[in-house]
Amino acid sequence: MKFYIETIGCQMNVNDSDKMAEILLENGCMQTDDMLQANIVIINTCSVRFSAEHKAYSLLGRLKEQKDINPNLIIGVTGCMAQYATKEIKSRCKYVDFVLGARDLDMFSKVIIKYLPKSKENVKYKQENKEVFKYITIMRGCSNFCSYCIVPYVRGPEISINYNEIIKEVNEAVTDGAKEIILLGQNVNSYNYDGVNFTHLLQKVSQIDKVKRIRFMTNHPKDFSNELIEEIATNKKICRHIHLPLQSGSNAILKAMNRKYTYEQYENLFNKIRNSIPDISITSDIIIGFPGETDKDFKATFDASRKLQFGGLFIFKYSSRPKTVSAKLKNIVPLEVIKKRHTLLLEDSNIISKKINEKYINQVVEVLVENFKKNIAQARNSQNIKIFFDTDKNLVGQIVNVKITKVLPNSMLGILQ
Ligand code: SAH
Ligand code: SF4
Ligand code: F3S
Repeated sequence: MKFYIETIGCQMNVNDSDKMAEILLENGCMQTDDMLQANIVIINTCSVRFSAEHKAYSLLGRLKEQKDINPNLIIGVTGCMAQYATKEIKSRCKYVDFVLGARDLDMFSKVIIKYLPKSKENVKYKQENKEVFKYITIMRGCSNFCSYCIVPYVRGPEISINYNEIIKEVNEAVTDGAKEIILLGQNVNSYNYDGVNFTHLLQKVSQIDKVKRIRFMTNHPKDFSNELIEEIATNKKICRHIHLPLQSGSNAILKAMNRKYTYEQYENLFNKIRNSIPDISITSDIIIGFPGETDKDFKATFDASRKLQFGGLFIFKYSSRPKTVSAKLKNIVPLEVIKKRHTLLLEDSNIISKKINEKYINQVVEVLVENFKKNIAQARNSQNIKIFFDTDKNLVGQIVNVKITKVLPNSMLGILQ
C-alpha cells in the first residue's frame, strides 16, 4: 500500500501529518509524493481562511475522478476543516472513506487500520526523509478568541503538554539526526505546565547537547515576557528570529479584533526586543480589511510597517469565518478596497525587507543546510532567511559559513567559505 498526504495550513498540521505518516509506515505502508500513485490519500485540512477550505474541496474534486478509475482508492479527510465541517464534507463528497477532526487525531491509528490489508509479514518502513529540523507541538488549541479567528473553535481550548513528554520527543528527534527543534503552539508565550513556563522550557531544551538550534512559533504580544527576551539574548542556541503578529496598526481595529494590546504597547515591546537582541529579525502578520477598517485605520497599519521595518510581513486579506464574533459585524470592506490596500502594503513591505536583507551583502553568515539538489544547497541562517549556494558536496545537516553575494525578494545567494 502506498499513501500520499497533502498538508494544507500551518506547522501544527505539518506536525500532525508527520505523525500520521509515521503510523502508516509502522503498518507497512510506503509514502509516495505522487498522489496518482497512491492507494491511500489523506487531505489534512485548514479552515483559517476560506481559500484554504476551497483548496481542500478542489483537491477532493480531483480525487473523485481518481476514485472513479480506481474504486479501491481510500480517501481520508483530517485536520481543522474536518473537525467542524464533518457533515458538509460527507454530504458534498460521498466518496470520502473517513473524516477525522484535528482534535481526534489520537484515533487515527484505530481508524486507518480498518482499511489496511492484514499482511502476514510484518514489514515496517522507516520515515525516509530524516528531517534536519523537527516540529514539536508544545501546546494544543487556543483560548485567545481573536474575534476573526476560527482556531479556538476547531482546535479547542489551550492545553500545555507535559514538559517531560516534550523533552522525550526532543531527545528522540536529535537521536534520529535532527539538528534544529521548532517548538509549536498558537501562543507559545503562555506555555505553563506545573509552573514550568516557556522560558524554563527553552532552558530545558537547550540543555540537550545534540540540539544545535531552537526556533519557536507563534508569539502573542500580550504574553511576551522580559524574562523571555533576556533568555533569547543570552542563549546562543535560540535562533535570532521572532514572529510577532501585529495584525493591525490601528487601536480601534486591534480592540475589535480582541487582541488585548494597543499599537503603542506593541511598539514598546518591539523596541525592547530590538534593543536587547541587536541581530534579531522580527517578522509579522497583518490582516487587511477587517470589518470597519477605514482608510485611516489602514494608514496606521501602513505607517507601522514603515516605522517598525519588519524583516518580513505576511499580509492576509480578511476572510469571514463561521462561528467567529467578527463574522457578525457589519461595515464589510469591499473586496476592491481590500485588494488595493493589500497591494499597497505588500509592495512597500517587500522593499523594506529587501533593504533590511541587503545589509548582509559581503557578510559571512552561519547557516544550517536543509536540502541538496543538483549541486545546489538550500540552507537557513539564524534569522530564518533561506540561502542558496553552489557545492558539489552533500552538506545536509551541517552548519557552515556562507558569504552573501546577492539578495532576492525572499531569499539570498552566497558562496561557501
Ligand atoms: N496563533 C497565531 C496564528 C494563527 S493563524 C497567532 O495568533 O499569531 C495565522 C495568521 O492567519 C494570523 O496571525 C492572522 O494574521 C491570519 N488569520 C487568522 N484568521 C484570519 C481570517 N479570518 N482572515 C484572514 N486572516 C486570518
Ligand atoms: Fe487565532 Fe488569536 Fe488564537 Fe492566534 S491567538 S490562533 S489568531 S485566536
Ligand atoms: Fe493551523 Fe489552519 Fe488549523 S492555521 S490550526 S491548520 S485552521
